[in-house]
Amino acid sequence: MGDALDSVLADGYESGSRGPALIVPTPSGRPFTQELAVELSERPWLIFTPARYEGIDRRVVDEYATRMPVYEVSIGDYVLAGGEAAVLVVTEAVARLLPGVLGNAESHRDDSFAPGAMASLLEGPVHTKPPQWRGRGIPDVLLSGHHGKIARWRRDEALRRTTAHRPDLIERCDPKAFDKKDREMLSILGWEPDPAGQPYGRFWRRTDGMEQ
Ligand SMILES: C[S@@+](CC[C@H](N)C(=O)[O-])C[C@H]1O[C@@H](n2cnc3c(N)ncnc32)[C@H](O)[C@@H]1O
Repeated sequence: MGDALDSVLADGYESGSRGPALIVPTPSGRPFTQELAVELSERPWLIFTPARYEGIDRRVVDEYATRMPVYEVSIGDYVLAGGEAAVLVVTEAVARLLPGVLGNAESHRDDSFAPGAMASLLEGPVHTKPPQWRGRGIPDVLLSGHHGKIARWRRDEALRRTTAHRPDLIERCDPKAFDKKDREMLSILGWEPDPAGQPYGRFWRRTDGMEQ
């Protein structure tokens, strides 16, 4: 592993690149999130050390940590047989943030987990063309041409999906991120502000009293 890293590093520096960061995939790493993908996309280059069996020797990590930032990263709470798939996951998420990779540079700003927003919501359902497919239509509002109503529908669906799949994200949303219509929708979906939870970063709770 040391020889491989030295060789890759020598090649990278020969090509005149600024210093890399080392990405060590491991289930015991920090969770890989969109926020971390954005941080890594700002590094000039990345080196990955996927492993098998018990993972890589701690001394390798400690050695290269003296030369470059090291990120020990987990792609989820499960254990893969090897780190190659984790490298693909990180590469896919980071590469699409690089200038020129997506046709429309703005498109990732609307994605699920887009960082920077006070509310990190999942994206709602997606509909493309044609308007009819195997007898299935798309919601009328999407064909209305009314941008305000379409935006509202998308937002409501994002709230619906996030409450269903990731209630932990809703819990932590800053109330300032929600307008009156959002609050109405959250109420319909069974959520209310949680004044007691605010000191702990829990701003919302379910009205039925169920824990997440
Ligand atoms: C069998 S796992 C090693 C598991 C390790 N003994 C533990 O329990 O933390 C072998 C390799 O798969 C990769 N790997 C497995 N699960 C992963 C995850 N959730 N995220 C990132 N990499 C993972 C890492 O490269 C790891 O070194």
